Amino acid sequence: MLITTSLSTEDLAGQLYLQPHYLQTQRRIKSLIDRYVSHEQLCDRLQDLPLQFQHPQPRPWKQIDWQAINYNQIISINPEVFLSVLVGALDTEAPIRGYTQTSRQYLENLHPQMARFVGGTVDENGNLTELGLWEKEERQHTPTLLKIYQQLTGEKITPTLRTVRGYLPTDNPHEDLYRHGLHRVATEYGATCLYLWLMAHTTGTLQDVLEELVLDEINHMTKFWGFGVWLYPDTGLLRIGKTLMKTRHQNYARNNLLRTLKRMMGTLKWDAWSLSNKTTLMFTFIYAMRCLWVWNDKLTPEYLQSLFGE
Ligand SMILES: [Fe+2]
Ligand SMILES: [Fe+2]
Repeated sequence: MLITTSLSTEDLAGQLYLQPHYLQTQRRIKSLIDRYVSHEQLCDRLQDLPLQFQHPQPRPWKQIDWQAINYNQIISINPEVFLSVLVGALDTEAPIRGYTQTSRQYLENLHPQMARFVGGTVDENGNLTELGLWEKEERQHTPTLLKIYQQLTGEKITPTLRTVRGYLPTDNPHEDLYRHGLHRVATEYGATCLYLWLMAHTTGTLQDVLEELVLDEINHMTKFWGFGVWLYPDTGLLRIGKTLMKTRHQNYARNNLLRTLKRMMGTLKWDAWSLSNKTTLMFTFIYAMRCLWVWNDKLTPEYLQSLFGE
């Protein structure tokens, strides 16, 4: 039972309101982003990467009392919409093995340490002999979302396993990795924002679980982003935009990004969202990007080379 009558009730997103109006929700989102996407946090997560190259250590999760998750912990989202957001998130999380192995292949020759971080190591027959840290952390996400769903509805669902677009090398591995890496950063950023937004709309144990997902996604996003800036120092916004909108297989998928977005909108039941839900999600994306961009400006070549070498 939640104590929501007292004005002093706080949770991870700051002040908790039973029926928040738009600005109150926005304040909760801002407080979350200021805390989890702060400059200090981002620097800390990036500086952790060279340490993880040496001694990979999965980040331990706090103890979760799964039975304590219930509908009363959802704030200001229609429960049906909340469930479709969970399904939408599941849709991007699975199948993690496919993702990690594709990334490993793009990195293998260009940066073996990062290849190992994302996809582990394989023997000469291509069998996985060690899991990558990225996979170890990410593979907890799908079961977590399934458990939340089951705890709320009493129903078990199975994620639709999409086929991952695998490793498709051209004769320019450097450019291949750039395009691939950019999509990875975009996915981690999307997941970060979605889970932060969900945290603002939940409290109690449900919010505690989502915090673990947020921490993982921010950790990965930051590492991929900073590593990318180190590897591709003179990338302007224009090149980023062009790369995200362009695909090598023009007739196969004319616009990969927009297609993915459209599919996501369908799964998320976007049409059923309240105006406040839509606007606060947009706010989350914009405000988090602003924080990342300020941090990005401080990623000087000298600083990055002190972490990853020349
Ligand atoms: Fe994830
Ligand atoms: Fe992720």
